[in-house]
Amino acid sequence: MAKKVIKKSWAEPFKIKVVEPIKMTTREHRERAIKTAGYNTFLLESEDVYIDLLTDSGTNAMSDRQWAGMMVGDEAYAGSRNFYHLWNNVKKYYGMPYFVPTHQGRAAEHMISQILIKEGDYIPGNMYFTTTRLHQELAGATFVDVIVDEAHNPTNEKPFKGNIDLKKLKALINKVGAKKIPYVSMAGPVNMAGGQPFSMKNLKDVYKLCQSHKIKLWFDATRAVENAYFIKMRERGYAKKTIAAILKEMCSYFEGIWVSAKKDLMVNIGGILATKNKKFFEKARNMVVVYEGLHTYGGLAGRDMEAMAIGLDEMVEFDNIRARIGQVEYFGAELDKYGVPYVRPVGGHAIFLDAKKILSHLPQDQFPAQTLAAELYLDSGVRGMERGVVSAGRDQKTGEHRFPKLELVRLTFPRRVYTQAHIDVAVESIVAVYQNRKNITGLKMIYEPEYLRFFQGRFEKL
Ligand code: F0G
Repeated sequence: MAKKVIKKSWAEPFKIKVVEPIKMTTREHRERAIKTAGYNTFLLESEDVYIDLLTDSGTNAMSDRQWAGMMVGDEAYAGSRNFYHLWNNVKKYYGMPYFVPTHQGRAAEHMISQILIKEGDYIPGNMYFTTTRLHQELAGATFVDVIVDEAHNPTNEKPFKGNIDLKKLKALINKVGAKKIPYVSMAGPVNMAGGQPFSMKNLKDVYKLCQSHKIKLWFDATRAVENAYFIKMRERGYAKKTIAAILKEMCSYFEGIWVSAKKDLMVNIGGILATKNKKFFEKARNMVVVYEGLHTYGGLAGRDMEAMAIGLDEMVEFDNIRARIGQVEYFGAELDKYGVPYVRPVGGHAIFLDAKKILSHLPQDQFPAQTLAAELYLDSGVRGMERGVVSAGRDQKTGEHRFPKLELVRLTFPRRVYTQAHIDVAVESIVAVYQNRKNITGLKMIYEPEYLRFFQGRFEKL
């Protein structure tokens, strides 16, 4: 008798209309390329990459609706119709009445930091993000990590490892005083922790604590839709709520948000700064004309704002976000078959290989994650990125390397770009490198730029 089919598979809620050729290179070719790139995957030419899992930032496939939107770009210097379309959707989905467009996320981080921070302030946050912390430091603040301890442990399976530890936050408030804390910087999911979300309950508790000390909350909502998805799937009371409703509820606890639109919104460029605070808005709207462009385009073309506005409609569709995170989960499940260690549970945007464990014979000052990313590229042309000691940079005061507990290689999924077969090829390559791990030697840094060294630093094989 024929077996009964159990319908448990899902598929992407779209089909492919346009394709972009990619090519496989030889090992010799890749050896030359990675050496020329100083063993830094950021310095490779993308022509030399086969499957590009460097980042999900700006690397997404836009929908036919978004491409059609590009054709109705209103490129007027002032008052573009696309700006108003985008503004309406920012209000609709994030619930923030005031909006300033920026060319990408870090431009918003720059303005928020310059407007809210005074020299000597402290900014607590649920783990750092590279550009976020740098802008806070450049404005004169000290960043303090108040994420729960589990976030630093790659094998801990807790569902909300992006949560803020209230005890740590209280201790900081008691130590430095609420007046020295202009805002709490909360991200969800937490990129550097492996794409781990915070829970709504934690957000409410943080909000209550901050209210009682008159401290504001600001939200890095770059991948907030992924956080909303995890809340729906994992937190009691949210299973029946829509992604849009959860997103709106999350945002309601914040005074303002910033977004790198290059992620959730599935566009190639763009950023959002939005707030409920009119005074702040007026300052930011004035500042944007100094650094970005007029406040109705903020460094973007009208057509880009149109694609963003449409991206906002698409990002909250349940099937879309389920397929995105489903792809990452599939990747994790395949790696599990071979016992390759990565940050658990699977996060929203990427798989983070545990380089500390995989290359346990390399001390952290030989850059295990940088090494692993280079080896993976050498094996197959799959490109990931370092998220360890190189990304963490140097301590502001001592000038020493910051040695983070997490030493990871991030394999990030562009939205709507790669198929399951691409994932299978990437998994096979990771497994091959993993099985050869004992023969891998470390790196030494031979060039180190002052800011965000992971982008442009250069290395040599030891
Ligand atoms: N916040 C988060 C959580 C991010 O992941 C990024 C960018 C930014 C802010 C800055 O935004 O790039 O538009 O200026 N993350 C990219 C990444 C670069 O690969 O994770 P941006």
